[in-house]
Amino acid sequence: MKTLVLIAHPNIDESRINKAWKEQLETVEGVTVHALYEKYSNGQIDVEKEQELLLKHDRIVFQFPLYWYSSPSLLKEWQDQVLTYGWAYGSTGKKLHGKRFMIATSAGGPSEAYQAGGYNHYSMSELLKPFQAMANLTGMIYEAPFTLHGVRVLSDNEIQQSAEALVERIQSKA
Ligand SMILES: Cc1cc2nc3c(=O)[nH]c(=O)nc-3n(C[C@H](O)[C@H](O)[C@H](O)COP(=O)(O)O)c2cc1C
Repeated sequence: MKTLVLIAHPNIDESRINKAWKEQLETVEGVTVHALYEKYSNGQIDVEKEQELLLKHDRIVFQFPLYWYSSPSLLKEWQDQVLTYGWAYGSTGKKLHGKRFMIATSAGGPSEAYQAGGYNHYSMSELLKPFQAMANLTGMIYEAPFTLHGVRVLSDNEIQQSAEALVERIQSKA
């Protein structure tokens, strides 16, 4: 199974988590790593190229640090521009049908904050619903997200372990 990992991190050089995940994923056969902020520093997304890339893969992964309970903005822009009517959805838009879709995200808040009664009130499953709905409308199969919480207090070793766990997740369903 060929996997495309779309990374949306506005400042990957200063990242601990997403950078470690990126570097680990770049070593894996069958995985294409595509860093959106590096590719489109001017914000001008090449829609045709992005659609071609999607067609070449069986699983699409959105990887990002959680920003305001969602993704950084370029990934939203990517969705708005690339997932067009008649291509990704609509009666003739079936190009993504049957592909697998997964989110890999890191969050500053601890896991216990992401539940009813916790300080963020909502679970990650609830907050990621717009992505699930996107997968649904485009005919993709939504896989359980890979999430890492409480990232500020993690050691380098714990981050490395999470990178290996992410690769394992991707390979286990290959
Ligand atoms: C603009 C901004 C918004 C953020 N919003 C959230 C949030 O909604 N929930 C959360 O748990 N952490 C939030 N964080 C913390 C980031 O998720 C955290 O710094 C990131 O996952 C660390 O990954 P990195 O090392 O790859 O940068 C936010 C950080 C920034 C800069």
